[in-house]
Amino acid sequence: MHRTNNLRRAYIAGTGHAVPEKVLTNFDLEKMVDTSDEWIRTRSGIERRHIARDGETTGTLGAEAAKRALDDAGIGPEVVDLILVATVTPEMVFPSTACVIQEAISAVNAGAMDVNAACSGFIYALSVADLMVASGKCRHVLVIASETLSRITDWTDRNTCVLFGDGAGAAVVSPCPDGDRGILSTYLKSDGSKGEILYILGGGSRNPASHETVDQGMHFIRMSGRETFKVAVQAMGDAAMRILKAEGLSGEDVDLMIPHQANMRIIRATARRIDLPMEKVYVNLNEYGNTSAATIPIALDEARKNGRIESGALVLLVAFGGGLTWASALVRF
Ligand code: UT7
Repeated sequence: MHRTNNLRRAYIAGTGHAVPEKVLTNFDLEKMVDTSDEWIRTRSGIERRHIARDGETTGTLGAEAAKRALDDAGIGPEVVDLILVATVTPEMVFPSTACVIQEAISAVNAGAMDVNAACSGFIYALSVADLMVASGKCRHVLVIASETLSRITDWTDRNTCVLFGDGAGAAVVSPCPDGDRGILSTYLKSDGSKGEILYILGGGSRNPASHETVDQGMHFIRMSGRETFKVAVQAMGDAAMRILKAEGLSGEDVDLMIPHQANMRIIRATARRIDLPMEKVYVNLNEYGNTSAATIPIALDEARKNGRIESGALVLLVAFGGGLTWASALVRF
């Protein structure tokens, strides 16, 4: 999506994240399913993940991340015009998690809706926020990605339970006050024909929740790991390559890539595709595992706060997820 000249530039004015305190290590998982720390680390790069306690939900984590992002941007909740929440683990089917967070943070003047693009959800929501601000329709948009994947994980399925974690990240998108900073471009793609390699089958209108759907574990994430891996490598590489090419840039121009944190081997392959050295890639997969839509904003907030993003840095965000969906964004800080 290219910006036309009559649009103003939107930028990321603040970020925040919140993760549960409770940690589940690979060694803990060894006691739960037939797996090993060695297998999980070498196949995925994950060492630990954070897991929500009772009472901690997608809404509470998202609200905390949102408050921190608003503080970072130096604005109050009353000036937020729109709240977008990217999640596949909503507080409930409806009302939206965005409405739950709107109430929790007292964003009394905001519209609110959820965005479901699975692990690509943060970039999808960021893209909507960008255009809402760029068009002048909104001034401040709060983009939140929050997930409690532990609540939809089958803890007896070693193919999936070692991969996921819980957490939330948020960004405030506002009109850019000066210069060349801001969201330069976003790229969104999907392929519904491959939706059934990564999904939750039960609980929707096709298979409404019943004793039978629960007995069959249809409320849990199911994934064909190997197939998802192959498509992810291709799609993430394409999303990174295409957005750079469209802007007349190459990997050499990128100061930091923040990829979706699903698998270290996918991240390395994506970096290789654009000839980016791993020193320019932000990785925190070892600490949090795959938190779906939340991986990128958690990493973005960490990277900003620990000095990995200097003023003027060009940051490439790139994601892949269920749907299938994939997406990228170029942001100048
Ligand atoms: O966030 C959205 C997108 N998600 C992803 O991008 C995830 C993509 N997929 C992956 O990251 C990888 O495919 C996995 C990490 C899930 C799996 O790695 P893999 O190298 O593709 O392994 P595999 O699925 O081919 O399984 C290899 C073997 C199998 O045994 P056999 O059939 O070779 O005897 C599995 O049963 O490893 C076995 N296995 C495990 N062994 C120990 C699968 N899970 C485990 C486990 N511990 N947790």
